[in-house]
Amino acid sequence: MKKLYLVAGARPNFMKIAPIVRALQAHGEPAFRIIHTGQHYDREMNDVFFEELGIPKPDVFMGAGGGSHAQQTAKIMVAFEELCQVEPPDAVLVVGDVNSTLACSIVAKKLNIPVAHVEAGLRSGDMSMPEEVNRIVTDSISDWFFVTEPSGIVNLRNEGKPDSAIHYVGHVMVDNLLYQAGKLANMDTSGFETSEYKAARQANGGRYGVVTLHRPANVDNAEVMARIGGALREVAAELPLIFPVHPRTRGNLEKFGIDLGPDITLIGPQGYMAFLDLWKDAAVVLTDSGGLQEETTALGVSCVTIRDNTERPITVEEGSNVLVGTDPARIVAEARKVLRGEGRRGQRPRLWDGKAAERIVELLVQELVRT
Ligand code: UD1
Repeated sequence: MKKLYLVAGARPNFMKIAPIVRALQAHGEPAFRIIHTGQHYDREMNDVFFEELGIPKPDVFMGAGGGSHAQQTAKIMVAFEELCQVEPPDAVLVVGDVNSTLACSIVAKKLNIPVAHVEAGLRSGDMSMPEEVNRIVTDSISDWFFVTEPSGIVNLRNEGKPDSAIHYVGHVMVDNLLYQAGKLANMDTSGFETSEYKAARQANGGRYGVVTLHRPANVDNAEVMARIGGALREVAAELPLIFPVHPRTRGNLEKFGIDLGPDITLIGPQGYMAFLDLWKDAAVVLTDSGGLQEETTALGVSCVTIRDNTERPITVEEGSNVLVGTDPARIVAEARKVLRGEGRRGQRPRLWDGKAAERIVELLVQELVRT
């Protein structure tokens, strides 16, 4: 039987791998191994997701987290090359745009192993963003492109990719979201760290907003971080905000001495279920995450994206997302719109229907016959 390596390394990869694993198990072939690069390693950034999302324990854990981009990428490449030489797979599947995606696709390609890229073709046009470099390099050498939105097809065609290699399949992250939302509906949520906060807000008819920030462009620069923090304080005076803080952001808030004030509740990174339970009922989500722009669109929750661009334009064209950049006036104005009931709800894009992983597995089986 043909053998596939599934690569996962950082938090946003885990939600994308989970439905692919389920679809592979249901299909019965090809055989697969889960390779964890170790890019994310803290319990709340890693283990929690494997447990909650029902992903089997990784077959290989490479422990290549931490360090600069070059150090991290290099460590992953060396470890993955060794693995592929000892036990070569018939294909490697990478997801998203993190350093693990880039590192493993380069290694596979140089060993003449075909690469499947899930979430291919997205482009922000912003080369200062590490993920944009990762996307472009990965797509430039991948063999099969599994695309989440029409802009991905256009971008890949413009870069000369043949139509026969481009497959618009929908979005595995939405597969995972719909699956987990179904489970959440029958779950006792009283044990979540956030349940008291949510209940207290809702008990007196109050609303709340959810914040996430971790992009280097927003949180690594003291002036930008302070500017965004000021806008969030202003929003929080009218709508209490809750902010699960990524380790990178936590460190920088402390380093820059930024105080977000009494109306923003800071908590640690949350597991998938607790976080979903929190944001699905929020009045608004203020974020710089890529995945959350899509997840809010899938459930019709208003999203204000604190970035100048997005590689996921469908969330703005059809979904519930608005781009506001880092200008405090725009952040506050957009949040106020939501409070007036003028927030965007949008609609769920075509093929974001919970079946993307099944389509990917069907296509991979056909492609692998030819390799
Ligand atoms: C990475 C991805 C980003 C994704 C994000 C989600 C790249 C280029 N970036 O960014 O696309 O949106 O994950 O979180 O791959 N850290 C810990 N514990 C952990 C993980 C990280 O303390 O479990 C700290 C470390 O100090 C680390 C820093 O966070 O150096 C940054 O981690 P890294 O994986 O390099 O990038 P992220 O900012 O998490």
